[in-house]
Amino acid sequence: MTTLQALSNQEAPSLIEAVFPAQKVSFEAQSERKAVAAQTLTGLGSYWKGRKPLILVRAIILGSLLPQTGDSERDLEIFEKLMAFDDHGLARRAFAQGDLKPKHIAVRVSLSNPWDFFTFTGFDDLPKDSRILNVECPFDADEEGINLRWARDVSEDTKIELIERALATFASYEEKASLCKRPEEVDQDWLYAPIWPAVNEHFAQWGVSARSIPELVEQMGILRFGRRPRVGDTFSGGGSIPFEAARLGCDTYAADLNPIACMLTWGAMNVIGAPKKQREMFEDAQRAVMLKVDQELIKLGVEHDDKGNRAKAYLYCLETECPETGWMVPMLPSRVISPKLGAIAKLTPDHANKRFTIDVVSNVSAKELKAAEKGTVDDGDLVYELDGKTYRTPVKTLRGDYRGADGSTLNKLRRWEKSDFIPRPGDIFQERLYAIQWITKDSIYEHRQNTYFRGISDLDLEREQKVAELVASSLETWQAEGLVSDMAIEPGYNTNQPIRERGWTHWHHLFNSRQILLQAITQKAWRESDAAALGWLNLAKMADFNSRLCRWATSQGGGLGGPKGVFSNQALNTFYNYATRSWSGFGVGSFRMAEEPLPNVEREVVSAPADQPARRCDYWITDPPYADAVNYHEITEFFIAWLRKNPPPEFSDWIWDSRRALVIKGSGDDFRRGMVGAYSAMAEHMPDNGMQCVMFTHQDTGVWSDMVGIFWAAGLQVVAAWYIATETTSELKKGGYVQGTVILMLRKRQEGERTGFKQRILPAVRAEVQRQIESMMNLNEEVKDKLGEPVFNDSDLQMAGYAAALKVLTAYTQIGGEDVTNFALRPRQSGEVTVVDEIVQQAAEAANNLLVPEGLGAETWARLTGIERFFFRMMDMETTGAKKLDNYQNFAKAFRVEDYARVMGDMAANGARLKTVTEFASRDLSDSTEIGPTWLGQLIIGLQQLLAEVEPQVVIGQIQADLPEFLEARPLLIDMLAFFERKAAPKEVRDVAEVLGARMKNLRALGQ
Ligand SMILES: C[S@@+](CC[C@H](N)C(=O)[O-])C[C@H]1O[C@@H](n2cnc3c(N)ncnc32)[C@H](O)[C@@H]1O
Repeated sequence: MTTLQALSNQEAPSLIEAVFPAQKVSFEAQSERKAVAAQTLTGLGSYWKGRKPLILVRAIILGSLLPQTGDSERDLEIFEKLMAFDDHGLARRAFAQGDLKPKHIAVRVSLSNPWDFFTFTGFDDLPKDSRILNVECPFDADEEGINLRWARDVSEDTKIELIERALATFASYEEKASLCKRPEEVDQDWLYAPIWPAVNEHFAQWGVSARSIPELVEQMGILRFGRRPRVGDTFSGGGSIPFEAARLGCDTYAADLNPIACMLTWGAMNVIGAPKKQREMFEDAQRAVMLKVDQELIKLGVEHDDKGNRAKAYLYCLETECPETGWMVPMLPSRVISPKLGAIAKLTPDHANKRFTIDVVSNVSAKELKAAEKGTVDDGDLVYELDGKTYRTPVKTLRGDYRGADGSTLNKLRRWEKSDFIPRPGDIFQERLYAIQWITKDSIYEHRQNTYFRGISDLDLEREQKVAELVASSLETWQAEGLVSDMAIEPGYNTNQPIRERGWTHWHHLFNSRQILLQAITQKAWRESDAAALGWLNLAKMADFNSRLCRWATSQGGGLGGPKGVFSNQALNTFYNYATRSWSGFGVGSFRMAEEPLPNVEREVVSAPADQPARRCDYWITDPPYADAVNYHEITEFFIAWLRKNPPPEFSDWIWDSRRALVIKGSGDDFRRGMVGAYSAMAEHMPDNGMQCVMFTHQDTGVWSDMVGIFWAAGLQVVAAWYIATETTSELKKGGYVQGTVILMLRKRQEGERTGFKQRILPAVRAEVQRQIESMMNLNEEVKDKLGEPVFNDSDLQMAGYAAALKVLTAYTQIGGEDVTNFALRPRQSGEVTVVDEIVQQAAEAANNLLVPEGLGAETWARLTGIERFFFRMMDMETTGAKKLDNYQNFAKAFRVEDYARVMGDMAANGARLKTVTEFASRDLSDSTEIGPTWLGQLIIGLQQLLAEVEPQVVIGQIQADLPEFLEARPLLIDMLAFFERKAAPKEVRDVAEVLGARMKNLRALGQ
């Protein structure tokens, strides 16, 4: 038997350079996202947006470590076993999920002896000759009127085997996997128990012998690098990449410039993945702190009423003086408080004091509830009725907006001073408590609390006053001690908003008296505990959920109403009314820690810029801030402001500042320079046989050129690219457009100079694109024959086309006489088309040329325009049931279609489709559209006419008249019509396509 020899497999190409089950990874990544708050790392802080799916990271690391053995098909099979994507893995995952019940199995599989496996109530009392005793599967238990269960002595293995057989009757991976738990949710030893003999045999030539994923990872590392592999990420953000790397058994190095990112990464490694003992310690510490804070608040007497009920949430609104009447008017976009309890705010004029009293009324009628949706702020105006007259004043006017000398919009809001925490008398916007959500005395500490809403009493106001006085007298000390933020808000894209809209100048202005008090005493309690680092994570979460930027959302809690977190989106939006949580509003909820602690590997988290890695890593896997929609640096200042002074020892080496100047952002020249610095440094800190993976959003070919220039200048060569659709349907709805992630794999470029010229490179690029796509298509055929589903879809082939081009290109050090580093760093003129742009575009075209839809001749394909190709390609895809919008979007980009929406019948994220022939209006086919002047456009008009019962002769005559090149085009038109005849969905279209095609052929026969 071969024994494992260190470094005996140093140069083996990685599996991910040849195959990757991108479709399955996409599906699993989306399932992970759909778990929303139940995602493994989200509990640490849902304010951090854009964590990469763990399953994707897992696939990348395993795909990088596993070698190619020369048998791609078997390599892929083993890889899928390791990902639990194979049929048996799915069956185990489905067993764990428990959705596939005996009755579902009985109706799907053939069994001559169902009663060896199933039973139902009353089974034992049946007479021997009962028909049901002799029934065979498949049968429908519901139709038989029986409730099937597993028979008592059926083993787990047998159940799983039957589940596997039932799963085999589903057509697609998606259908199967949607009946399953996610792989990470299942006990790992149990999930993978059966795979090890096959895995070890597949890698027997290297002496691999593993019984768990971490063991396999370690052995693969020894074969390649002589040690357990180390994975690094210098843009670690929320920590997905290092967390998953550690979970797989790699040593890890994580760095980020931002201390909040570092803290979240630390939390992933040390809280979510904590060993059992540590976990218990954390849980004890968390309970102790909650108790301490509770006792302190009880002592202060600021959250309970005189009957012992306790507040859960306080609702505040702004109040402002109407310039027309001089009345103080509460600013409430809606008066609804709780739809479920029928609670609304009722405004009554108080003429003596020129203000409104606000009562809270519950159990109102549906009609009153509806009427209460109309508040006093509407479409940017303050609107209210007084004595039968409506007054309307734009909020802009209230604020006193005016243009500054430089053209910017300024206003007359007083800028708050550092000592402020509530509005001063005379400020344009005052603040008013208008309702309290109470918890009944006896249910305060219960899991299910009884709550109700009430208006504000004098005693409530006294308690408010008490809190305000407490804060006023302590603020300075608390700020000096770092218990309360004293940091000024630095202007910026997101941070300007609270300054402009409220006059707030310091971060603590985003918090009211109660919020400041709660934050201060909680921070004090955490500092005194043994788990202050955990406390820091808690305090950040608390700030997110307890600020003046927390909107009261009536839909929360099933319509009961509740506060939203500040970062429910990625901006610092201010609100006219908002909610404040009390201690009870937070509950004693703790972090959901992993059942299985991380293996005992090295995990380092440092705060450092990406161009200064402190370690050498075998793999660098990164998700850099490319043209990021999220301004992490600005947004995280909200948290840094509260946490930066006296951080716990674990975090005390980090620089507690967002270091805006060092952040890599945007997509311009600075961005490219920053990225080249970072990737050069990572390449230098990597062994020659190491690899890098960079993830970025797929936008257009311009992105590819940018990224390639960067990696090229960093001394890296592209070796593969894959496309993963990572967004879920609900995210799509908001964004309106789809974003997938491109996974680019890179290795170090070989030493030495290589000079190339465009004329020489282009043919080499085309040849490599062809080689790559053809080899993938071959594998597709083989796997499809065997398993019924191909491995790659057209988007994968497209990406592989780009990657192939870049592989050729990035092997050179000089292109057309220009050094690649100069090329990458040189400022771009707007609209400039670089050599790389050209080559990438050529590669896309070379790939497109090969992607001939099944049933269309290659000659026809070669002659079609972009929109025609798009249409036929998507028609072909639709016949396979594909209906994801991102497919349409990617191909529209690939074929350079300007306005693909024009030919779309539906653009729903998961229900997209082309227009059918009859859905095209004449304006869609006019000469000013993309499709109108094409042959396809002509044919669509022709088919429409035939459907309207125009004589075929007349239709042909019209086409002949409109197409001067008719004779030459005729064979191609016939080919296109044959395609319609085979692939168009409505039967009547197929029929008329057949008629028109036959007529055209006849023309030829008649020699016309
Ligand atoms: C897209 S996020 C990474 C998200 C992460 N992969 C995850 O799953 O949560 C990019 C990160 O890059 C960090 N960053 C930006 N410029 C940096 C620099 N110059 N050095 C190090 N980190 C930087 C940001 O703080 C941010 O956390």
